Amino acid sequence: MFKIALVPGDGIGPDIIKQAVKVLKAIERPGEIEFEFTEVLAGGTAIDKTGHPLPKESLDICLASDAVLLGAVGGPKWDNLPGDIRPEQALLGLRKGLGVFANLRPAVLFPQLKKASPLKEEIIGEGIDVLVVRELIGGIYFGQRGRDGDRAYDTECYSVPEVERIARVAFDTARKRRRKVTSVDKANILESSRLWRETITHVAEQYPDVELNHMYVDNCAMQLIRNPHQFDVIVTSNMFGDILSDEASMLVGSLGMLPSASLGDTKRGFYEPIHGSAPDIAGQDKANPLATILSVAMMLRYSFDLTHQADMIERAVAQVLEDGYRTADIMENDMKLVGTDKMGDLVVEYLNRI
Ligand code: NAI
Ligand code: MG
Repeated sequence: MFKIALVPGDGIGPDIIKQAVKVLKAIERPGEIEFEFTEVLAGGTAIDKTGHPLPKESLDICLASDAVLLGAVGGPKWDNLPGDIRPEQALLGLRKGLGVFANLRPAVLFPQLKKASPLKEEIIGEGIDVLVVRELIGGIYFGQRGRDGDRAYDTECYSVPEVERIARVAFDTARKRRRKVTSVDKANILESSRLWRETITHVAEQYPDVELNHMYVDNCAMQLIRNPHQFDVIVTSNMFGDILSDEASMLVGSLGMLPSASLGDTKRGFYEPIHGSAPDIAGQDKANPLATILSVAMMLRYSFDLTHQADMIERAVAQVLEDGYRTADIMENDMKLVGTDKMGDLVVEYLNRI
């Protein structure tokens, strides 16, 4: 029995979480694969009901679960609250509370959605599939900072254990993919990057079946656009990962298609689409649920070791797209426009056929 905490949140959050639950229910096999769902309050909705963006009870339920699935939080309704209460505090509180130090953001361009990419068709080829593994709770975003007269500084600092643990996530993940890791740093200039490179190289010795190469971050930014096919897993520091994961996600164009996973020391993971609460289309059956459904596939793969079922979900999504079904955000001429609910039903229908 896998315990899943559901955090629908605000805006389109509840609309898309509903579709994800349908998909999880379709994966269930009594006595073999079973899920227990607990819905928790977080974000603006939680502020309305309890006065707090992340009530203690919500975090406790998440901590007692095997995985957490979040829709999105926030919206204009909560932009001007008195004091410093904000829905986004729920997001940070959950990430911090769950201790998730590795952020995994796949940039997958389904071949059916080639037009969404700004890249030329000959560069895209059969599609794009790059995974950025970003260190999430260290580096310059958390280093010493300060001001001294007309000077200001931030410090990039990494320790061997911090690099080792993110390296292991990258190598373990690469084993479930195409077995190639590109470590991105600036070791020609930065001492912290030299430690990063040495540590990654050392960890790699435990993964002789995974190919490792190193790349400077400026070159990587260029190579992602020149030839994304050379990459499988990219592992990098917090700041480089922040920038490169945004770059990589734009290669595939569509916000409504991109999932993410954040992992810590245990198998418990935090899963969410990369988009926000889209208040402009909330409750109108217009939101694309595929980013959330693909986040479920990541949950099955990373937290539950249900690799086969994860593959099945991804194949079902590809097949729905292949047959021409589109939500409004990815709509093209001659395709079949469907709403949120219908898109969820279609994925379930195709799953049942696989
Ligand atoms: P957004 O991602 O919510 O929306 C940007 C645009 O993309 C909108 O036009 C929206 O309709 C569209 N869009 C987003 N997701 C979609 C989907 N699944 N299907 C179809 N169209 C989709 O970003 P925005 O407008 O900057 O932020 C809105 C609210 O969401 C803000 O309160 C923001 O703070 C919050 N937010 C929350 C995040 C989270 O919970 N992880 C992440 C980003 C923003
Ligand atoms: Mg960013």
